[in-house]
Amino acid sequence: MQDLKDTIDLKRLPRHIAIIMDGNGRWAKEQGQDRLFGHYHGVESVRNIVEGCAELGIEYLTLYAFSTENWERPEKEVSGLMDLLVDTIRKEVDTLNKNNIRLHVIGNLDMLPPFAKSEMQEALEMTSHNTGMNLVMALSYSSRWELVNAVKNIALDAQAGKLDANNITSDTLENYLCTRNIPDPELMIRTSGDFRVSNFLLYQLAYTELYFTETRWPDFRKKNLYEAILDFQGRERRFGKISEQVNKGQHIG
Ligand code: IPE
Ligand code: IPE
Ligand code: MG
Repeated sequence: MQDLKDTIDLKRLPRHIAIIMDGNGRWAKEQGQDRLFGHYHGVESVRNIVEGCAELGIEYLTLYAFSTENWERPEKEVSGLMDLLVDTIRKEVDTLNKNNIRLHVIGNLDMLPPFAKSEMQEALEMTSHNTGMNLVMALSYSSRWELVNAVKNIALDAQAGKLDANNITSDTLENYLCTRNIPDPELMIRTSGDFRVSNFLLYQLAYTELYFTETRWPDFRKKNLYEAILDFQGRERRFGKISEQVNKGQHIG
């Protein structure tokens, strides 16, 4: 595995990796277990991947932990996930601080049960002085919720005379998203074999490289992360231009 890690070009790392951590339920079912068993094991992967990203020097890691639509799941699963969230945060804050990792949350925290919301806020506060990797948890998050919210707030500010609608630019909109001050992800990984984005960072993923793997989230480890980064480093990102324009050394006027 060290060999694989050594082949990563540290000068061309993605600044921001976003992950749709999918497949906990299917993983559990394959073991003949309850879905929550999969979520518990998924936490091990979170630890491993946070550590892996921090070791490499990734600046931002965003993890899709719970979507707006996930509130529609059976009540037993939702409450089990909330308990797991609170339990994990409590256990991990010290480790985050030891590793200088700052926690952020994007999503509608008002939807969380009060005990989970206050635990989250406390963890945000307790890690707010850290200056190393930024760990962004997408919690009760969906991109459509985020965009509707942004539009609503822009309209309210325009109405209140705080901004001129004629001067709205992409920068204005970006300032109203949950991800303001966070660069767009360069690499987005989805585990467990489905090829979709499920309402995740729809605006921010405009030019992100997408990587899909069959590996279920509870089985995803640093080795799989390195594979995804190496795949990313083999791609040519053109941003709408042509190959010769983006290849250094070959100047096209
Ligand atoms: C991802 O795993 C975790 C959450 C969405 C909370 P799933 O629970 O979606 O697992 P599958 O997709 O049913 O296997
Ligand atoms: C996306 O997974 C959300 C998270 C991983 C938190 P889902 O399992 O909810 O997505 P769908 O239902 O397969 O699109
Ligand atoms: Mg799923």
